[in-house]
Amino acid sequence: MSGSALLLTVNGTGRTVRGSPDRPLLFALREELGLRGTKYGCGEGQCGSCTVLVDGAPVHSCQVTVGEVVGKKVTTIEGLAKDGKLNPVQRAFADAGAFQCGYCTPGMIVRATALLGSNGSPTRDEIAAALEGNLCRCCGYLRILRAVERAVELARAEGGLR
Ligand code: FES
Ligand code: FES
Repeated sequence: MSGSALLLTVNGTGRTVRGSPDRPLLFALREELGLRGTKYGCGEGQCGSCTVLVDGAPVHSCQVTVGEVVGKKVTTIEGLAKDGKLNPVQRAFADAGAFQCGYCTPGMIVRATALLGSNGSPTRDEIAAALEGNLCRCCGYLRILRAVERAVELARAEGGLR
């Protein structure tokens, strides 16, 4: 692949990508860096399946370019576990079975993790509002809301998101 080398910080590690700085971050993550947990859904900023964190804030990785995240910290679903331990949101989704096909799940978890990072006690309405842009075709949103509520309890009991 042609293009000058760009150094990104992804999941706490410096990673070099060589494609155009104008291409979507989503493609660099999946195709160059092999981080396939971040999903391609609509490619138009409408479904949330491609959500990652950039400097801690949730963004649609199909809507930001590689060049725009140079010098920033990118966190994907693969970067949420620490020392081999899933974060409370990941564990709550697994425990609650809050997925069916799982395609939306990484984006849901990343966005819910961002919410809990900024609000340790979100109400159900606040959780629903935060996840509004993340679409699920399968399992129904009630189970997802319950999983995030469970994640809030876990994070509180454990003193944080780790
Ligand atoms: S693939 Fe990015 S919002 Fe749908
Ligand atoms: S679990 Fe299939 S799209 Fe959400």
